[in-house]
Amino acid sequence: MPPPASTTGCDATLNEVLVIGAAGKTGRAVTRALVARGVGVRAAVRAGSRGIPYAGELVRVVTLDLVTGAGVAAAMEGVEGVYHLAPNVHPDEVAIARRVAHCAVTEGVSRFAYHSVLHPDDVSMPHHQRKSEAEGAVRARLGSATVLRPAAYLQNLLGAALAGRIEVPHSVDAPFTNVDLDDVAEVAAHVLTDEGHAGGTYDLAGPERLSVRDLAEIAGKVLGRSVEAVEIPLQEWMTGPAAGLTEQARDDLAAMFRSYDREGLVGDPTTLRRLLGREPRSWRDVLA
Ligand SMILES: NC(=O)c1ccc[n+]([C@@H]2O[C@H](COP(=O)([O-])OP(=O)(O)OC[C@H]3O[C@@H](n4cnc5c(N)ncnc54)[C@H](OP(=O)(O)O)[C@@H]3O)[C@@H](O)[C@H]2O)c1
Repeated sequence: MPPPASTTGCDATLNEVLVIGAAGKTGRAVTRALVARGVGVRAAVRAGSRGIPYAGELVRVVTLDLVTGAGVAAAMEGVEGVYHLAPNVHPDEVAIARRVAHCAVTEGVSRFAYHSVLHPDDVSMPHHQRKSEAEGAVRARLGSATVLRPAAYLQNLLGAALAGRIEVPHSVDAPFTNVDLDDVAEVAAHVLTDEGHAGGTYDLAGPERLSVRDLAEIAGKVLGRSVEAVEIPLQEWMTGPAAGLTEQARDDLAAMFRSYDREGLVGDPTTLRRLLGREPRSWRDVLA
């Protein structure tokens, strides 16, 4: 049984949280959610990163490199919480998780959350399997860590929906329970700042079971214009949009799309609903 959600609000003693990957899609959302709760954020980016997360009194940018380990321990000095995520489909995700968790122990960090993925044990997707191993690596060092397992974000398809054409290299009829990234970030801020989440593992799936065809149809209605759902052959994706990726990233994502073809990516929204203490945001909400 996961520990119950706290509704007591922010723990006033938490001074600052280090957010890894703070210039990225997830890191920015988590930074925003923590700042909205009045928590200071040490925003970790790579040296030379062009995507510096939003500035403000509560945000201080630090640089580190997750692959070499440079700056990781220093970035944790004096922080009470760490939100760890790995760069997308990174081949060294497990070693990175081991290193980050080790530094968190050494630096005496009291709250640690790891951003995993829904169904990390699905062996048909190598990057999910790495997340499963990374969860193990974190847990071996920090039994009190909280693990979040989000479904795919609704925001992944938002730009395409707004542009009128959602093109995917898998079946447009496969089912998904995509989740609002800001809901995920709100939960991330909860688990780091509220009591009662030590050792918890939470699936974070959205409230609706929808295919890409459904998502396009709803977007069309909300936006008042046509939105197409288009399936392109995987091979076309590999030589087109994915041509600039490394071979490993391309293969990992191709395995993911094949898995989506077979069964989509579906989870149970109950935990997300409980942790938020409200109904999770729907696709219509996100579009609006
Ligand atoms: N997208 C989804 O639907 C979804 C769902 C569930 C879980 N996830 C997981 O969420 C995680 C984050 O995804 P995302 O979409 O937020 O990724 P993202 O936008 O690519 O952000 C990743 C960040 O990591 C930084 N980074 C890359 N290499 C680094 C290094 N060597 N040292 C330090 N920082 C480095 C990047 O910095 P730069 O800005 O300098 O490149 C980037 O800001 C991934 O592990 C993904 O599997 C994603």
